[in-house]
Amino acid sequence: RPVIFSGMQPSADSLHLGNYLGALVNWVALQDDSDPIYCVVDLHAITVAQEPKALRENVRRTAAQYLAAGVDLERSTLFVQSHVPAHAELAWVLSTITGFGEASRMTQFKDKSSKQGADATTVGLFTYPVLMAADILLYGTDAVPVGDDQRQHLELTRDLATRFNSRYGQTFTVPEALIPKASARIYDLQDPSSKMSKSATSEAGLVKLLDDPSVTAKKFKSAMTDTGREVRYDRDEKPGISNLLDIYSAVTGRPVAEIEGEYAGRGYGDFKKDLAELVVDRLAPIRARTLELMADPAELDRLLAIGADKAAARAEVKLREVYDRVGFVRRG
Ligand code: TYM
Repeated sequence: RPVIFSGMQPSADSLHLGNYLGALVNWVALQDDSDPIYCVVDLHAITVAQEPKALRENVRRTAAQYLAAGVDLERSTLFVQSHVPAHAELAWVLSTITGFGEASRMTQFKDKSSKQGADATTVGLFTYPVLMAADILLYGTDAVPVGDDQRQHLELTRDLATRFNSRYGQTFTVPEALIPKASARIYDLQDPSSKMSKSATSEAGLVKLLDDPSVTAKKFKSAMTDTGREVRYDRDEKPGISNLLDIYSAVTGRPVAEIEGEYAGRGYGDFKKDLAELVVDRLAPIRARTLELMADPAELDRLLAIGADKAAARAEVKLREVYDRVGFVRRG
């Protein structure tokens, strides 16, 4: 059974529709015939300043949303990154085979650091993709279900795995990225030229999994569309409608062409109203289940501890192998 690994940052009070359609839906689907490991990446989250109390809450809430969306503990391992020290330990080793220039070329780092300025940008943000490579490589991962924005980080992971293997001998599996077709990149409903992101300046175009259903519906009904009234897919001329068509297609599993046909001659209003309903129907049970799970944090912590034990047992074997390969003396 192929090993699947993926993770999300607990850096907001809710996951958003991009996280869900770009990654989480795939995580759930992949459980049938793989060995999946899903992680709440708190070490990554602190590369941007977090309020400690909020972070603790967001870690549990992120795990709760994975479970509510359908991550099943009978089939998947679910844990919190900081509970397994091997992640930080392997990241250190990998950082010593990562080129400074290579890391400097990561577009997410360039984007984030240029917004923040040099003094606010931390070394942690710079080495973020190396830690991500460690997450993946520790488990002999075959495939990583993520959205399109993680493509470059996956390429770096593959390069580091290959480089380590050729320098020290076969140690790491070189993983593939699993990126969905329709929903690899979901855009902000108010600004269809920017991807949907938890750091959006306004929440009007950010669809949160934990929004009240009435808020979700309103965000769709007031989604920015283009002049014209034809529901037709055209990324350049009609970015707003195209984004909504991608969402519609991802939520229903129906091809875009079929949806265009259904709304031919009917205008934007009907289309947005139906889409609002479809998304609300999909998200409402996830929201309700998340709130239920959040009501019992001790139980969540217990489940996460079981996951951490399972993950740590596997990670330690790989870390030991790496330490042997690089020539560290085993502790006597
Ligand atoms: P993060 O927390 O930013 O996002 C989590 C997942 O959601 C996807 N995603 C999107 N997909 C489509 N449209 C969007 N607008 C959108 N926004 C986010 C992301 O591609 C991602 O799959 N670096 C990772 C976390 C990470 C990780 C890992 C992932 C750390 N270690 C190991 C995989 C394997 C990140 O920042 O995700």
